[in-house]
Amino acid sequence: MKILITREIPKAGIRMLQEHADLEIDCRNGPPLSREELIESVRDVHAIVPVIPDVIDEDIINAGKNLKIIAAFSVGYDHIDTYAAEKKGIYVSNTPGDLTQSVAEHTIALMTAVGRNIVQADKYIRKGEYEFWDPMLFLGTTFIGKTLGVVGFGRIGQYVAEMCQKGFGMRIVYNSRFKKPSSGASFLSLDELLEISDVVSLNCSLTEETRHLIDEPELKKMKPTSLLINTSRGPVINEKSLIRALREKWIAGAGLDVFEDEPKIPEELINLDNVVLTPHIASATKEARIQMARMVAENIIKVLIKGQEPIHKI
Ligand code: DGY
Repeated sequence: MKILITREIPKAGIRMLQEHADLEIDCRNGPPLSREELIESVRDVHAIVPVIPDVIDEDIINAGKNLKIIAAFSVGYDHIDTYAAEKKGIYVSNTPGDLTQSVAEHTIALMTAVGRNIVQADKYIRKGEYEFWDPMLFLGTTFIGKTLGVVGFGRIGQYVAEMCQKGFGMRIVYNSRFKKPSSGASFLSLDELLEISDVVSLNCSLTEETRHLIDEPELKKMKPTSLLINTSRGPVINEKSLIRALREKWIAGAGLDVFEDEPKIPEELINLDNVVLTPHIASATKEARIQMARMVAENIIKVLIKGQEPIHKI
């Protein structure tokens, strides 16, 4: 049985698959496959392991005549047409859990980088502009006693909240599809959350309900001193509105790991000083990637070798 892995992933997962003589692995490591290449490559495979840039639409799914499982190498699966897969009885699985800490830590890295002007200060030194100490240089903000508003209170959102509460002494409010009464944090409507939060962290999945959840009216509700951090998915924010908000100082700054049309990033955003940008690396730790590779392998082995459902079925 053939497995197509569209990008290089840690060996830990490949080795698990290689233990099964029945599995033949085709692991690509060039640039992302085009749609045509995906359609061609999926024809005779039993499992495909897509990564974030691989949009697995209905045509690709239909082309996979032997396809039994789409084992996403990610926790997010908005790049996969899960309805088309379900119609054809193809399993879709993801890799939840193990990247929680990595994404949460990156969320906090972005929050502190924006709040303490880390990137601007680094550039200032490299440009040779540091000539004397100045009490008013790069004034940032402390986080103790401030309010963190978490939008999307799943595993990652809750972990960000815990770190900010225990580590920074922040007060936590959240908005989510489901209330989590045992979390100790206060549930608020999105509007209330945006109005009172000093830092807003987006940790929700991308769905039709969350597409452009943060647009002009929402950004206008935030305080001019607030920071917006996005480690979820780019289209949760209307990027054009965010650029206006940052330019016209409706909010103080933003930390973004994800973008509306990745990897394309508007020049206007790149030229702004009050935003820190990273290339969708919130989950990029060695530990998380190894665990993700193992989960992908477990999901495939369950379906192709054991004839069972994947462990992390969507
Ligand atoms: C995910 O897993 O969804 C991350 O965004 C990419 O690793």
